[in-house]
Amino acid sequence: AVKVPKDNTIDNTLAIFKDGYNFIPNRVQNHHLDVYETRVLGEKVALLSGIEGAELFYDRNRMNRSGALPTRVLKTLFGEGGIQTMDGDPHTHRKLLFMSLMTPESLQHLYEITTKNWAQFTKKWSKMKKVNLYDESRELLCRTACDWAGIPLNEKEVNKRTRDLSNMIDGFSAIGPKHIESRRARKRSEAWIEDLIIKVRNGEMEAEKGKAVYEMAMHRNVEGESLDARMAAVETLNVIRPLVAISKFLTFGAVALEEYPETRTRVSLDDEYLFMFTQEIRRFYPFVPFLGARVDHDFTWQEYPFKKNQLVLIDVYGINHDPRIWEKPDEFNPERFLNWDGGLFDLIPQGGGGYYNGHRCPGEWATIEVLQASFRYMTKHLGYEVPKQDYSYSLKKMPALPKSGFIMKNVHYK
Ligand code: HEM
Repeated sequence: AVKVPKDNTIDNTLAIFKDGYNFIPNRVQNHHLDVYETRVLGEKVALLSGIEGAELFYDRNRMNRSGALPTRVLKTLFGEGGIQTMDGDPHTHRKLLFMSLMTPESLQHLYEITTKNWAQFTKKWSKMKKVNLYDESRELLCRTACDWAGIPLNEKEVNKRTRDLSNMIDGFSAIGPKHIESRRARKRSEAWIEDLIIKVRNGEMEAEKGKAVYEMAMHRNVEGESLDARMAAVETLNVIRPLVAISKFLTFGAVALEEYPETRTRVSLDDEYLFMFTQEIRRFYPFVPFLGARVDHDFTWQEYPFKKNQLVLIDVYGINHDPRIWEKPDEFNPERFLNWDGGLFDLIPQGGGGYYNGHRCPGEWATIEVLQASFRYMTKHLGYEVPKQDYSYSLKKMPALPKSGFIMKNVHYK
């Protein structure tokens, strides 16, 4: 007999909107198993949580990604045919391409570009009455991303590109005009980068080896063929789009520096603490709620019969807050990382498992560099005051963000 708990209601699609980040935790918690069955959009879906649930989710022999992502997500957030939808050897080959961009030198360079842009923006902000950090950091990161990826960006297009890159991220779960705008943003962005890929290939544009735009333009797939120019554009966007999304962690980091002021001095001076603070930001604050995969073949796990092609969702937010893994998970405490063993399935804000044999985010270390450069700069060189505002965020709204966006005034270099 199957003991796995189930939702009794017919369909829980609306509950996802109602429960937000707690959709899976509300269902899986208080059960001894890490699997729970529900129905979403008419499909029988298995919800997975806990370390063992994450291990299963990232087991390539039992789960795959083709068909796991809805068209609306591919037409906005990710692009069609990109790495997120690949499996097996072609996936590993493509993943190596992304990982080749993440050398220590290249990550160091990213840290430096980020710092340089913070200095530039400090000058600009010192002339402004009020600065909305969330809005401004998206432009800062768009400039950083393009510079790092070898993409020329002229002053006139910065606003438009920043807007398009963030709309692709924010519009995938929306309905109506916001979603339509998100699709347009993707089309415009793909056309923009495709044009550059063609120029790099025919020598009209110079690009440095090791930069994303060059490597995507020159890449050959498992069969030894170069990528279709549109595909190369989709993958280049898979580098610059998420770099702009770091604005969310960055804004939450600014909030943490206000709410836990005792962290400030150590963030500004102590490299090890800066790293732990950054890890805690990525664990503590909500970003990605869950991820999906499909079952490869029928099998039973923890007494639950998984069926071939069944949709499975892994509890990303819940695992980052699982009391079985984290002591007092709802307390912000960077020092918990002093004794952390670097597990592959516990801190999973950007996916779990290995980089090469699964879908874990290849940009995780790039994200950490950008955040460390930003938090160091903010605590060491950015003078600012914070007017009264509402930093709170709702776990029911995905993606989550502090209400005020983080407002600063009297910004100056210190
Ligand atoms: C995959 C989150 C930054 C490139 C992922 C996944 C997550 C994620 C949750 C999926 C994991 C999975 O499917 O198992 C984030 C977050 C970021 C971030 C929250 C920071 C705000 C970056 C950056 C880059 C990047 C900076 C590139 C420089 C990618 C790519 C994939 C991916 C290419 C697909 C990997 C694959 O399918 O094998 N990311 N990411 N991400 N991320 Fe990130």
